[in-house]
Amino acid sequence: MEAKVIHLTVNGRAHRALVEPNLSLLHVLRELLGYTDVKNGCEKGDCGACTVILNGKAVNSCLVLAWQAEGAVVVTDTGLGTLEHPHPVQEAFADLGAAQCGYCTPGMVVSAKALLDENPHPSEAEIREALSGNLCRCTGYGQIVHAVQLAAEKMVTAESAENAEEKTR
Ligand code: FES
Ligand code: FES
Repeated sequence: MEAKVIHLTVNGRAHRALVEPNLSLLHVLRELLGYTDVKNGCEKGDCGACTVILNGKAVNSCLVLAWQAEGAVVVTDTGLGTLEHPHPVQEAFADLGAAQCGYCTPGMVVSAKALLDENPHPSEAEIREALSGNLCRCTGYGQIVHAVQLAAEKMVTAESAENAEEKTR
């Protein structure tokens, strides 16, 4: 099969890329489009370093063929927030020192964000289950789990404040 052009939106930005049929979404994101925050750890679905949100679901981008992402909406860690305006999950990871070498961190943050979108009040077991596909060689996971708990608290508090403000309008 010949290469074909695919179209996808990454972190709000529209892209097109000429892609060979055997290329993964990970390869396209990192090597063709420059999203180097999507890490390449194993390329076989074992480590979670390549996790992105694809059409609302956290996936290992190394296991998705780029052709399957035609028309897709992709969000990576850098699409969640900036240094000035970090996402609550990013902020909590920084506040609690949940990153050491940082290699696993973008994938962890993306998986945690996807979890909190679906389940704003996860138990510790649910957090560990949601992050079970994301491996970390440095932290022992304790600080990562605490960071996700802190992010959940921050997000719930922010939402309650927003609702209270709306009621007074
Ligand atoms: S690089 Fe995709 S799971 Fe390891
Ligand atoms: S912080 Fe180093 S692998 Fe997780």
